[in-house]
Amino acid sequence: MGRSLLITRIGELVTNAPDGDGVGGAAGSAAFAAISDAALVIDGDRVAWTGPAARAPAADDFLDAGDRAVLPGFVDSHAHLVFAGERSAEFAARMAGRRYEAGGIRTTVAATRAATDAELRAGLHRLAEEMLRQGTTTFECKSGYGLTTKHEARSVTLAAEFTDEVTYLGAHVVPAEFADDPAGYVDLVCGPMLTACASRCRWVDVFCERGAFGEDEARAVLTAGLARGLRPRIHAGQLGPGPGVRLAVELGAASADHCTFLTDADVSALASSPTVATLLPGAEFSTRQPYPDARRLLEAGVTVALATDCNPGTSYTSSMPFCVALAVRDMRMTTEEAVWSATAGGARALRRTDVGHLAPGALADLVILDAPSHTHLAYRPGVPLTYAVFKNGRNQLPSPGYRAGIG
Ligand code: NIG
Ligand code: FE
Repeated sequence: MGRSLLITRIGELVTNAPDGDGVGGAAGSAAFAAISDAALVIDGDRVAWTGPAARAPAADDFLDAGDRAVLPGFVDSHAHLVFAGERSAEFAARMAGRRYEAGGIRTTVAATRAATDAELRAGLHRLAEEMLRQGTTTFECKSGYGLTTKHEARSVTLAAEFTDEVTYLGAHVVPAEFADDPAGYVDLVCGPMLTACASRCRWVDVFCERGAFGEDEARAVLTAGLARGLRPRIHAGQLGPGPGVRLAVELGAASADHCTFLTDADVSALASSPTVATLLPGAEFSTRQPYPDARRLLEAGVTVALATDCNPGTSYTSSMPFCVALAVRDMRMTTEEAVWSATAGGARALRRTDVGHLAPGALADLVILDAPSHTHLAYRPGVPLTYAVFKNGRNQLPSPGYRAGIG
């Protein structure tokens, strides 16, 4: 039996709980909700109680949050973490005026194939630690830089050492050796490569974009994955409008990701479906593209998630706080919307009900910010504000200011 822990003197407790005495969350709605002067009780790996500090029940252990804010741990629902090497020269060239081209993926494919398992594992470990230190308690991880049966199988096997949310992205780009036979590559992705990867994965993804995979190819990949029990998600509308969002909705994908270039029909299709639009502002930052129109999506009633897209080409950041700051400053999301999208929105994009909120029964995955409110994530961009991070009810980061012996 785990001991219970009372965290009290919480300046702002972001619960995202649809009921209760929070502010900003209408009953039953998918909205930000928070309680001020709050407390929270953890029992084992779960949240057992939340409410005003004055009404908090007793617990075995006690932590004074010192009027800091407590948020659900960030849920990063889109990341490409299994790779070797880096592409800073490509980034520098873009900042000097060159356009992003999806072909850069092949550079990372070559480095990834050449790397040892230990090198790839060390890279994954470093990024997973980086994420945790910035408050991410759940993350998705894609393959997609191996692009042979052997190398994709290795990528998903390594990813599964770090997360349950593993995505098969054999259809990231057509590798150079199949340049003259893209149909042959799609057959490989839908056949032997999928067979080698499926048991380690929960999700199947495809980069549906000019220069990568078209509508028919994307449909073939996602339906082959579905037939093996994988659930679809899709890279859509990153570099230009295309069929990806429509396909995502047609196939009941959990999420359509990027959504930078959308038609009105795309927006309506998303609004009338459970498919989440996952926005990845780190990619627009790093490719110097226009940001996705979050207001258009929100006002149409689309569920919006925010994620990092962490990868060495288009978005080499593991920081959800950075993405929240970009979403608030440059995509005109309110601070409440951005934090909801980075927590509960990410959970929806992964079809998870146990994370992204802090109602009783949720996993006790949470961040204590060294700040009095969630607003500081955008108000103090670039400043490390993580004071403590709990995963499954246990503090993961004994930071200097954190009282030892608790959590
Ligand atoms: O999500 N769009 C496709 N994949 C990545 C880019 C990968 C790369 O350039 O290495 C993305 O932005
Ligand atoms: Fe991506």
